[in-house]
Amino acid sequence: MTVVSDGEGVASDGAGRRGPKTGIYLLAVGVVIMLAGLLFGYDQGVISGALTGIQKQFSVGTFLLEVITSWVTLGAMAGALVGGSLADRVGRRLTIVIAAGLFIAGALTEALAPGAGVLVVGRLLVGFGVGVASVAAPLYAAELAPSRVRGRMVSLYQLAITIGIFGAYFADYLLTQGNRWRIMLGISAVPGVLLILAILPLPDSPRWYVKAGRHDQAKAALHKVEPGMDIDAELQSMEDLNEKEEKGGWRAVFAPAWRRPLVVGVTLAVLQQFTGINAIIYYADKIFAAAGFASPVSQSLATLWAIGAVNVVATFGAVAWVDRFGRRPLLLIGATGMGVSLIVVGIMFEKLGKASTSHPPTGTSSEGVVTLVALIVFIASFAFSLGPVVWTIINEIFPSHIRGKAVAVATGANWFAAWLVSQFFLSLVDLITEAGTFWLFAGFCAVTFIFVRRFVPETKGKSLEEVEVLWGDPKAMRRALHARGQGSAGE
Ligand code: BGC
Repeated sequence: MTVVSDGEGVASDGAGRRGPKTGIYLLAVGVVIMLAGLLFGYDQGVISGALTGIQKQFSVGTFLLEVITSWVTLGAMAGALVGGSLADRVGRRLTIVIAAGLFIAGALTEALAPGAGVLVVGRLLVGFGVGVASVAAPLYAAELAPSRVRGRMVSLYQLAITIGIFGAYFADYLLTQGNRWRIMLGISAVPGVLLILAILPLPDSPRWYVKAGRHDQAKAALHKVEPGMDIDAELQSMEDLNEKEEKGGWRAVFAPAWRRPLVVGVTLAVLQQFTGINAIIYYADKIFAAAGFASPVSQSLATLWAIGAVNVVATFGAVAWVDRFGRRPLLLIGATGMGVSLIVVGIMFEKLGKASTSHPPTGTSSEGVVTLVALIVFIASFAFSLGPVVWTIINEIFPSHIRGKAVAVATGANWFAAWLVSQFFLSLVDLITEAGTFWLFAGFCAVTFIFVRRFVPETKGKSLEEVEVLWGDPKAMRRALHARGQGSAGE
């Protein structure tokens, strides 16, 4: 990862350059967050390919199959909620170690399961681990990264999620034949082990050390990631805020003073799911089949490349742009691209529906090709906007004394919304047709656009302490709500 200075004057040698050691620490934090993202993504994507083998071996019915599929998400929701308190109590770093441990235990339980019951336990454990990590890892990165690269650092998390999903699609494609579902599920213990190895030599975040009253360690951690900065002044600003803050119990999370960031975080988390991303990720094969991709091979290839690979490639856009152009422009442009492409997909399905009643589809029609292109635009638009930016914002808008728990609430809401969409997508299609469902998702894109314009402040380039002050400063908030594009934030 290259870390580019944007001229905020952070220097290690007094001449505007940071030493190689800083680069190594940031790189190591980047590796940690990427491994956590890989776990998340791989488990989102892998199950669809493993289901046939599981069904054959355990002869389970539809209900149990649904449980095996979707309870990872429910486990993750519970994990996310617990993860916040844990991250506040034992630190971000140790929480990540615990999450990885749970994850390894879950993956091995799945791989060795003698029956469906044990498999469900494994799925829940894995989900719980992913949920805990989905709170602790981005939090750790957001608190440890210097503000000029914070967005980029958290976007790496999303990049890794997309690589994990791609890897899972690929594993599905390679291992679907035969009875290799145990390998597919068990393999995910590997990034868990790597995650533990990667985080052990690193410090916790300076902000957590300050909260825990460990000032020397806070100083040492700051020294490692920002050796050239005025460490005493930075520490002082963290400590001043820390002293002013009341203790961060659950009541403080829901206190009126912090309602606005909580509403922004939870709403963005839910909208990230209600705009339909996981319906496409999970059911891509089925959607392509309905669009006229006749053979399973053509469906899985379309899914692998048009969804999996485009998702990875377009996320690089966010990694490059989020700290340059800011969060708001990416969200606004992305929501527009997603909405327009979903409207097109809906129109194509209307046409396909009418055509199939008169002439059943025999191959890929022009409507099928337009659907493919529109889905590519949808995935790309999500990948440089709502995917990474929502995670970035969730991890930077809360004040430090409630950050762990508040991030957990928003992340838990995200998992719950993901579960709702994946559980009910097929029923929704039965109820209001494919076209109606895609237009409903498009409607949520419009809601996202309006919500971001009105309520989501630009946080680019601000320190977490500056973001915290923003909520109580109407003038600064007005400026942040009208921030447009490059250079407009943080002025
Ligand atoms: C979402 C996941 C989704 C993934 C797709 C993430 O930001 O939270 O639910 O599967 O993006 O790339």
